[in-house]
Amino acid sequence: MPMGIFCVTGWGKSSFVRCKVIPLLREAGYGVVVFDWKGDDYVPYADRLKARVLKLHEITYLGPESGATYIIKKARNFGFSSGSALLNNLEAVLTEVLEDASQARIASSEELRAYIESKVENRLPGVVDKKYLSLCLARFRAYFRRLDPRIFELLIEAGKKKPKEVIELAKEEGVVIIDLSGWEPEEKLTAFLTLAEHVWYKMNVLKERVGVAFVIDEAPQYCPYQPKGLQEETTRMIESLCALGRSYGLPIVVISQGMRGDIGINAAVRRNINTWFIGKVHPLDREEAQNMLPGVDIDFLQSLEVGHFYFYGNMCPSPVPLLIRFSIEGC
Ligand SMILES: Nc1ncnc2c1ncn2[C@@H]1O[C@H](COP(=O)(O)OP(=O)(O)O)[C@@H](O)[C@H]1O
Ligand SMILES: [Mg+2]
Repeated sequence: MPMGIFCVTGWGKSSFVRCKVIPLLREAGYGVVVFDWKGDDYVPYADRLKARVLKLHEITYLGPESGATYIIKKARNFGFSSGSALLNNLEAVLTEVLEDASQARIASSEELRAYIESKVENRLPGVVDKKYLSLCLARFRAYFRRLDPRIFELLIEAGKKKPKEVIELAKEEGVVIIDLSGWEPEEKLTAFLTLAEHVWYKMNVLKERVGVAFVIDEAPQYCPYQPKGLQEETTRMIESLCALGRSYGLPIVVISQGMRGDIGINAAVRRNINTWFIGKVHPLDREEAQNMLPGVDIDFLQSLEVGHFYFYGNMCPSPVPLLIRFSIEGC
């Protein structure tokens, strides 16, 4: 059931998914969760898709531990080298303060920011050697004050939609678009992982059917050829979602301008895809496209117009690749 849609940018991938793939998944009885990386491929069409749009900060909550790691990362280690004793002390204090903050049920990001600042300043003298205290306080203040105020929105639990609720919403209302625009790749991938971990748990531990499809547009952002940092987690996650999704009703739609190598998606994810839609590809992908599309003339593939794809694989009723086209009228 994992599907891959590939062609060069501007040749109609996102439109095809919007106009054909999502309605098809709906007809087959699935709810759909769409991850809109830049917020401009699906969000503007929410009405026509009868979709609910949720912004990244409405679904992302980082608990005390990951919250402390996140603040430290954003504050560039407060100027300390990673693993240093002072940074470890600071991390311990931050984690404690975030735990207290979650007990205190702080509801606004401004309030949380002020709370963290004053509590950390109060507690540092108790854990940091006197010799280093003024340095530590000065660095903490300097870097903390430079933090983007919006990051505190991700550290507040009140009012957040839980992953379970998002998946339920997709089932009940049909389509949920996650608007990832306006955040750094790191936060976008974290938001993705929040939902992905929930469905992973549902399938792998509870052995429950999901009944919701995941649409991952701009897939190389999540599972590139060579994943780095958080991408290593998202790549592994997408690979296991593809594998589990077949048995537990979680179709995965992966959309990418490149198939293989630097511009492509990770090989482990690509191997799981069993239904292909391939339009005009990047010159570097000629060979891969030829492997995937037996009997198709690659020069002809490269001459295809916008909105034309070869359809091949498990879901295709034909034993040879079928050339299909679609219209964007009315969608
Ligand atoms: N089947 C189609 N017929 C006519 N125009 C199309 C078709 N599919 C896409 N387009 C147009 O091509 C442009 C790029 O489409 P888009 O879906 O954003 O491509 P991609 O996601 O591959 O970059 C858009 O302006 C879109 O309206
Ligand atoms: Mg696109």
